Amino acid sequence: MSKTITNSIDKAAALLVAGEVVAIPTETVYGLAGNLFNPSAVEKIYTLKNRPRNNPLIVHVKDMEAALPLITEFPKPLQQLAEKYWPGPLTVLLKKSKLVPDSITAGSDFVAIRVPAHPLTKQLLEQIPFPLVAPSANPFTRISPTKAEHVEHYFGDSIPCILDGGSCSVGLESTIIGMNNNTPLLYREGVLGKLLLESLIGPIEKFNSQKNAILTPGQWPRHYAPLTKTILCKREEIMLHVKDNTGIIVYKEPLLSVNTNQQHILSETGSLVEAAKNLYQILHHVDKQKYETIICEMLPQEELGNTINDRLKRASSSEIDNIPQ
Ligand code: TXA
Ligand code: MG
Repeated sequence: MSKTITNSIDKAAALLVAGEVVAIPTETVYGLAGNLFNPSAVEKIYTLKNRPRNNPLIVHVKDMEAALPLITEFPKPLQQLAEKYWPGPLTVLLKKSKLVPDSITAGSDFVAIRVPAHPLTKQLLEQIPFPLVAPSANPFTRISPTKAEHVEHYFGDSIPCILDGGSCSVGLESTIIGMNNNTPLLYREGVLGKLLLESLIGPIEKFNSQKNAILTPGQWPRHYAPLTKTILCKREEIMLHVKDNTGIIVYKEPLLSVNTNQQHILSETGSLVEAAKNLYQILHHVDKQKYETIICEMLPQEELGNTINDRLKRASSSEIDNIPQ
């Protein structure tokens, strides 16, 4: 094991208290964490990720009670969701109190908050006397990490500690939801999908970049991206793109006409939940294989399949021009 990767919660806690940045496991993806109230830790996170300063950071708290001092109101539908899904892969966007520094919300009056479910990070949050800001632990636009080794590959010795919590059980970033006037607005889909959330709180509007003029959560076209050129297409179109040096990511069954060594399967049993868990691990792996191109099979167009397809679309987008700096 490398020097930075550790199982010691005490070590991670001591470094965070000292104002350092530490990678932490969550059930969704690994985060690059720092003390919400320490400006130098916040600054280090932005610099390490090379993240535009106008892209705000999610706050992680140990429970709902710890979220309350950070906000001024908790609209009923969002509270209902938080009560049901915290700890879990759900982030809510709420009006912030004065305690929350403007630097982490990019000047916005709203703060994104969630209670993570990973046992190590839950324990860590119990041990430290402050909330953690933690964006996904990847450089801006790159694939989110779902294993300690992915974080190490990205940041090596530039962070003092990676708390190793194994492979993330969910594997996709949290669902982000806020309010638009009186209607819940879904900014980013995750494993908790729109239909599921609607079954609890009624109609939810989906973020639409034309209508909802703000550029926010996970909305940049190129995001979650491998370095290798990536193409997303329907299964029947894959053969149009295949060459000797092409990596293929298929949903459940390999293509009979292509060498199996070139093919990587998201879920042999055809489970979308398993495909979500494996997606980033496979993308990280395939990206290291020195393929000329990666081709991904589009997943079934149902709720979680659409969410995964959305991540894959961003991974394969070449539009980087309108990223605000
Ligand atoms: O599952 C997750 O949410 C992971 C784990 C580590 O918790 N975190 C994560 O963070 O995905 P990040 O920074 O990679 O994505 C959070 C998204 C960003 O697109 C950011 O723009 C948006 O949430 N966001 C954060 N705070 C916000 C705010 N105050 N207003 C609007 N959008 C916000
Ligand atoms: Mg991210």
